[in-house]
Amino acid sequence: MTSEASMVSAPSTDPVTAALDEVHARHVGARGGEIPTYIPTLSLVDPDQFGLALASMNGNLYRSGDAEAPFSIQSVSKPFVFALALSELGLDEVLHNVGAEPSGEAFNAISLEEGTGRPDNPMVNAGAIVTSSLVPGDPAEKFDRIRRCLSAFAGRALEMDEEAFASELETGDRNRALAYLMRGAGSLRSSAEAAVEVYFRQCSLVVTACDLAVMAATLAAGGTNPRTGERVVEPRVAEHVLTVMATCGMYDYAGEWLLRVGLPAKSGVSGCLAAASPAQFGIGAFSPRLDVRGNSVRGGAALQDLSERFELHFVHDTGLSAPVVFRSEDLSATDPFTPVTPGSREPVVHLRRLQGEIEFAAAETALDDLTIETGIREVGTWLLLDLSHVTRVNGVSAQLLDARLAGLRASGVTVFVTDALARHLLRSADAEFTSAEEAWAAVAGGQA
Ligand code: DON
Repeated sequence: MTSEASMVSAPSTDPVTAALDEVHARHVGARGGEIPTYIPTLSLVDPDQFGLALASMNGNLYRSGDAEAPFSIQSVSKPFVFALALSELGLDEVLHNVGAEPSGEAFNAISLEEGTGRPDNPMVNAGAIVTSSLVPGDPAEKFDRIRRCLSAFAGRALEMDEEAFASELETGDRNRALAYLMRGAGSLRSSAEAAVEVYFRQCSLVVTACDLAVMAATLAAGGTNPRTGERVVEPRVAEHVLTVMATCGMYDYAGEWLLRVGLPAKSGVSGCLAAASPAQFGIGAFSPRLDVRGNSVRGGAALQDLSERFELHFVHDTGLSAPVVFRSEDLSATDPFTPVTPGSREPVVHLRRLQGEIEFAAAETALDDLTIETGIREVGTWLLLDLSHVTRVNGVSAQLLDARLAGLRASGVTVFVTDALARHLLRSADAEFTSAEEAWAAVAGGQA
């Protein structure tokens, strides 16, 4: 699709595409920035191309403008090769060779840690040359693994742009200089020439904004490609990569980017950008004109716009949600439909129904309703905790709730959990049932 076609794209009926179209329309007329010339093939592109794509956790792909236009991935390869190195070697071994500190310097800066010669982070050129050299195998095997890994992230087989590769091979002396410096300092394992060649190859893999959206969505989905279902990297690796993207992905603009946009992101000199919102979506953007830091002007502006309009900033307070405890009743153990009167001595079932996503704040709220102090009677009573409407319990919440259930059991309360989905979200109950009827039958059995 050409940039002209994108400028006259028909209004979309799909709300997500319509939102992307709106942001696209707002920025498509901007002409600021320059096309890079230091890699000659990059200066041959149509500078007016502008594409946006969003891949969701359900595997849907939404696009606007030149979202299918091909370009070389350049530095957006870096987080994904970092993911591969982490998967192969583990965090400690990788960090032994490359740091995780924002450099506050340009992507091609010649600056290495004093003493060790270690590059600042895997998102700047020096760090990326080291990370790709860490991938196991001889140079051909390294690139083969890199190509296969990035293809799995994208969900399709990626090919190289041979011209972009040849162009960078011919003109990439600054990267060569960096590689020789690191070799001299002892921080690069392979030969300088072999290392830069693999790195140049990875930078010349051809992608589209749609591919970058899917690749970022794979990180956002904890390492599983939401379109193909393939587990590409472990969740922990995806977390590490997104973290380094957040702190270092936009080079000497990383701090202001996080302030204004608040999404982990990575840019490339071909004018591309990949950004992710964990557990929500991945976004790919492509617009070749760059600002002085080498970041796409329209891509960055579009992302900032999207982030503000849709409240995507990672520290944004999501506001009020429905109460975590949506039913709290004390019922007669002999009659599930009769509330017990305060002060009555008949056996009691304390029914508590939780709903939604139980993270720390919700768990801490629920704890208030699950104490002896606030109404659960000790000895010979039942707590019936219904989790059927709970969508998720995170680690800290499960531990807090389990600890409280264990305490109640020690006080003589029999704890039953019901969960229609039988997910075993909490472990400290006396028993788990898949329906209220089964739980009440067990209460009746317990009284007999
Ligand atoms: O090494 C280089 O200079 C290019 N192959 C990639 C640099 C890059 O994409 C920087 N990003 N804005």
